Amino acid sequence: MTDDRERWALILGASSGMGEATGLALAKAGYKIAGIHLDFRAALTHVEEVKANIVAVGSEALFINMNAADDEKRAAALDALEARFVEARAAGRHPYVRVVMHSLAFGSLVPFLAEDPKGAVDRKKMEMTQDVMANSLVYWVQDLYRRGFLESGSHIWAMTSEGSTRVVPSYGVVSSAKAALESHIRQLAMELARTGKGITANCIRAGVTDTPALRKIPEAARMIEITMARNPTGRMTTPQDVGSAIVALSAEGTGFINGDIISVDGGEFITGS
Ligand SMILES: NC(=O)c1ccc[n+]([C@@H]2O[C@H](COP(=O)([O-])OP(=O)(O)OC[C@H]3O[C@@H](n4cnc5c(N)ncnc54)[C@H](O)[C@@H]3O)[C@@H](O)[C@H]2O)c1
Repeated sequence: MTDDRERWALILGASSGMGEATGLALAKAGYKIAGIHLDFRAALTHVEEVKANIVAVGSEALFINMNAADDEKRAAALDALEARFVEARAAGRHPYVRVVMHSLAFGSLVPFLAEDPKGAVDRKKMEMTQDVMANSLVYWVQDLYRRGFLESGSHIWAMTSEGSTRVVPSYGVVSSAKAALESHIRQLAMELARTGKGITANCIRAGVTDTPALRKIPEAARMIEITMARNPTGRMTTPQDVGSAIVALSAEGTGFINGDIISVDGGEFITGS
């Protein structure tokens, strides 16, 4: 069955790493891209490159620089997307958000225990990390659902990591957010399935990938070394591996995959040594 609706992808974390690569891959596959990102000064040059790459393959790039965990800014961003949808409908097209990707990296990388309280987690750091890296998914999906942007064939993908079930000294706060994110996806998957609207929600568990977010983890060099030894393919995951997997998994015929965690890592997760 052909889908002649206008496909949009909403990418939360669209300016770098997995979100950037997935946006470009989806643009090449015919999607229009709405990208949410948080960048300052020098990084804005890269954002312009990301947008230009999307436009160069014949797509559209509606990018908004904002904190994805801000309720008012989320409403304004969805108004901007809705305005594009109104234009599309006026031109006789039928737009919908087929792909939602949650790919936000914005966490406190500190241990729970440290002699100096400034070097350890506190309530603010814990709640900010949980809010951006986990809970924001729920609020975006609620609004997308209520506004009718999600339709039959829509897929929600949330980026998780092995850190949801493993401990690394500085990763405890992000670990807890990943565990919550996986739980949120299960809940959304069940509730969406019960609506009977044909919308699914799953996690993508990428292997260790060389991105700006990885480089911020104090143990990054050691993690890369271990990954290179452990990954049975002999290489690390790339953002493009994730992008092409999301394009394929968002195509026709995958509508009964729901509430799952799908590894995109070449077999890294299942390999013990
Ligand atoms: N890199 C890895 O090894 C790896 C492995 C598994 C899962 N992941 C997960 O994949 C996701 C993407 O990670 P990445 O490595 O591509 O990171 P990245 O640093 O390359 O990209 C992060 C993106 O999030 C955006 N962002 C951060 N905070 C934001 C906020 N408050 N509001 C709006 N935008 C915000 C940034 O602007 C950027 O576009 C994260 O959830 C990360 O935990 C990463």
